[in-house]
Amino acid sequence: MQQSNNSSISQRLKVMVDSNRQSQNSDVKATSAVDYLLIAQQLVGLVGDERDRIANLANCTALLWQELGNVNWVGFYLLKRNRLVLGPFQGKPACSRIELGNGVCGTAAQMLKTIIVADVHQFPGHIACDDISKSEIVLPVIIEGRLVAVLDIDSPEIDRFDHQDQQGLEHVIRALTPYL
Ligand code: SME
Repeated sequence: MQQSNNSSISQRLKVMVDSNRQSQNSDVKATSAVDYLLIAQQLVGLVGDERDRIANLANCTALLWQELGNVNWVGFYLLKRNRLVLGPFQGKPACSRIELGNGVCGTAAQMLKTIIVADVHQFPGHIACDDISKSEIVLPVIIEGRLVAVLDIDSPEIDRFDHQDQQGLEHVIRALTPYL
C-alpha cells in the first residue's frame, strides 16, 4: 500500500476514534474483552481503497468471525425489494430470504434498531438456521437514513451479547458504512 493511503487511513481513524471517545459512544472501551476499536481500525485498513459493497461486507464478516469469541454464525442480510436476502457470511448455510418483521433479523430491520436476544428459544418467531445457536444480536446497517442490510451474529452460548457488544459492533458498522 502506498504511503499516502496509509496516512489517509490513519487520519480517518484518528478522527473516528477521537470523536467516538467524546461522543455518546464513549462507553466503547479499548480495554473491553473484545477490542472493537481495534477491530474497526483493522477493518478500515483491510478495506483500503476498495469500494465494492460485497467485498467489504465479506471482509467484515471474516474479521468478526476471526476476532469474536464463541460465535457460530456472522453475516449480513441485504435489503432487496423490501426483503432481506442472504449476503456475505461465515458459518453454516442459512436461509436465503427473510421477510421484514419475521425472525430477529426481520424485526431489527423493521424497527431499525439493534436487537439482543439472550435466549433465541424465547423469541417469538425466531428463525433457526443452526441448531446450536442459543443467543443472537442483530444490528441494522443504515446509510443516509436508509436501511441497506442487517448484521446478524449467533452464539452457542446463552446471553453471549451485552450492551458493550452492541456499542462496539455499532461502532464497527459506523466505521464500515463510508466504504459501502
Ligand atoms: N436467526 C435469524 C435467522 C438468520 S440465522 O440465524 C443465520 C432470525 O431469527 O432472523
